[in-house]
Amino acid sequence: MKHIEIVQIGIGHVGRAVAQIILEERKRWLDHNAIDVRYRAVADTSGALVGEELLPQAIRLKEEGGKLSEFGVEKTEDVLRSEPDSDTLRVVIDLAVHGGTHDLDILGAENGSYLVLSNKGPLSGSTAEYRRLTEMLPGRLWHEATVGAGIPIISTIEYLRASGDDILEIQASPSGTLGYIMSEVEGGSSFSGAVKKAVELHYAEPDPRDDLSGLDVARKAIILARKMGRDIEPEEIPYESLVPEGLEAVPLDEFMERLPEADEAFRKRLLAVEEHHMLRYLAKIPKEGEVEVGLKDTPVESPFGPINGPENVFDFHTRRYSDVTLTVAGPGAGPERTASGVVFDLLDIAHKI
Ligand SMILES: NC(=O)c1ccc[n+]([C@@H]2O[C@H](COP(=O)([O-])OP(=O)(O)OC[C@H]3O[C@@H](n4cnc5c(N)ncnc54)[C@H](OP(=O)(O)O)[C@@H]3O)[C@@H](O)[C@H]2O)c1
Repeated sequence: MKHIEIVQIGIGHVGRAVAQIILEERKRWLDHNAIDVRYRAVADTSGALVGEELLPQAIRLKEEGGKLSEFGVEKTEDVLRSEPDSDTLRVVIDLAVHGGTHDLDILGAENGSYLVLSNKGPLSGSTAEYRRLTEMLPGRLWHEATVGAGIPIISTIEYLRASGDDILEIQASPSGTLGYIMSEVEGGSSFSGAVKKAVELHYAEPDPRDDLSGLDVARKAIILARKMGRDIEPEEIPYESLVPEGLEAVPLDEFMERLPEADEAFRKRLLAVEEHHMLRYLAKIPKEGEVEVGLKDTPVESPFGPINGPENVFDFHTRRYSDVTLTVAGPGAGPERTASGVVFDLLDIAHKI
């Protein structure tokens, strides 16, 4: 029997979906695979709720916008410093947002925990931060859901490298929101209409500038580049912002109201695209040389031509996949799909230890 205890940092959209899957499916893992999974704690920004008796109520409370401190919490740092039960492996699952949890992840690593992330922040900061984490966790770091949500991108890179192949370049459309917006615009929508629809369908962040700025794609590009073995700093990846000039800092209401001002310029840009080409927001990550993130005039016959809706597409050009590239595509966003990637990592750890 393998015993695993989870300390989960973040109980937002993805965090709740992960907890639901674990609570619903762990009996099957116990019965069929002799893997015993339970929660040591879940944490939000107010602290860590220890034990799992109140977890179902905590999920409901977080859905309603509450804070775990309403149940009584401990400091997350103290929980991470505590010893796991005997014969039990601790997995810290970081499902928070951006870089604020880097030190919490390090604390978990120092105590011998394994780490699973959907949070790109700790892996997309400076090289020094990245190295600190990866060197502390050799063989103990899993992060499938950071790129492509539930579709197997990180594991494809690992598989290609482990099989002795050499990845020469990855081209990707790794943002469901930008993929959706570009395919809508292609189909005749105005830029502002496509952005509004992406917000209504919850593809985009509540403030769509978080997606339109290109930073999310740049973060994914740096994670892919590092996974390919490159030493790279965030400043080395310039990214094109689709946020219209002058609307970067205005309140959200004003941004949405004034967005149609950008429609004409966007339409002209679309008209300038060559025949049999489409405009796509892509990341191009070569083995060496400049990483590019921005709008690209892309042939219709390329793997990025048929993108429809919030699909992600990753195209691997390798020594062995050179005449025909290896393409991995699928829905690259959404809490349940992202949670699948996280649970895949958790069970992969359980199978490998
Ligand atoms: N949603 C997707 O489709 C998707 C896909 C791939 C990857 N991801 C990544 O997965 C992560 C989670 O996404 P989400 O949609 O679940 O975000 P979310 O709904 O905003 O939830 C974030 C959670 O993290 C908690 N948190 C933030 N900073 C923290 C800290 N320093 N210590 C403890 N808890 C902290 C928040 O606590 P409070 O509730 O107290 O604020 C909240 O519970 C993000 O990094 C996102 O980029 C998401």
